[in-house]
Amino acid sequence: MSAHWQTFASRWNRLGPPMRPGPEDVANFQRALDDTPGACLLLGVTPELINLSANLIALDNSADMIHALWPRHLGSIQGDWLDMPFDDASFDNVIGDGCPVLLEFPLQLERFFAEVSRVLKPGGRLALRVFVCPEHAEGPEQVCAAASAGNIRSFHAFKWRLSMAIAATSCDFTFPVAETLRIFDTLLPDRQQLAETTGWRMEDIATIDFYRGSTARYSYLPLSRLRQALPMQLSEIDALYGSYELAERCPLLVLERRA
Ligand SMILES: C[S@@+](CC[C@H](N)C(=O)[O-])C[C@H]1O[C@@H](n2cnc3c(N)ncnc32)[C@H](O)[C@@H]1O
Repeated sequence: MSAHWQTFASRWNRLGPPMRPGPEDVANFQRALDDTPGACLLLGVTPELINLSANLIALDNSADMIHALWPRHLGSIQGDWLDMPFDDASFDNVIGDGCPVLLEFPLQLERFFAEVSRVLKPGGRLALRVFVCPEHAEGPEQVCAAASAGNIRSFHAFKWRLSMAIAATSCDFTFPVAETLRIFDTLLPDRQQLAETTGWRMEDIATIDFYRGSTARYSYLPLSRLRQALPMQLSEIDALYGSYELAERCPLLVLERRA
């Protein structure tokens, strides 16, 4: 996994929504938290979320990502979301962007939610943007046909849809991310022609090459399955959506730690 994030750390600016949160997502995070967010834990080092609290600390297990994306003067800790280096009830809020994608279902996901519940104060909130595959899966061929027909606006949305279609073919919704590149190269081998029909820039298409040789595994669950994985201590109070392409697959779940 660490080599995977080393690749992304040096090329972060070449990525776009939905992987990176846009202004609508940031506004939704703001809505999800109270006016006074208090002590806030950010899971990851998503730069777009820096200003959500004046009292924010980031937790990420990649030294490369912390170094590349997180301002030095702000607090960060290198550590694992599955074994957080914090006392119980340390935070008023926990926020994260896309974290469940990086956790294997079901054991790591359960452990993740248990750790978040432990470090949250009773009544505190978890605001988590999740990437979920559709309840009725589409196949990789269908996604590539939609791209060839010019029906997908951005390459980043296409890449996400293709990954989700691949995840849906696995019984635990988890797959090696290098598969996305392999299937793309198999189903759409002529990148120049693809660029001409879709209007996508070649340099955006080339971001799929970040997956080459990666051993990382991604998980995209349907929202109904993700909700089933939530522990009793976390109750869902809202789900906020943006209006960008694929926003319906990127809800911000707002969960409250029961007292
Ligand atoms: C927050 S996530 C998903 C990407 C996200 N959409 C964003 O904008 O940052 C990416 C980060 O998660 C970190 N990460 C992945 N698994 C982790 C874990 N078990 N513990 C701590 N950090 C982890 C990676 O190092 C990477 O910096």
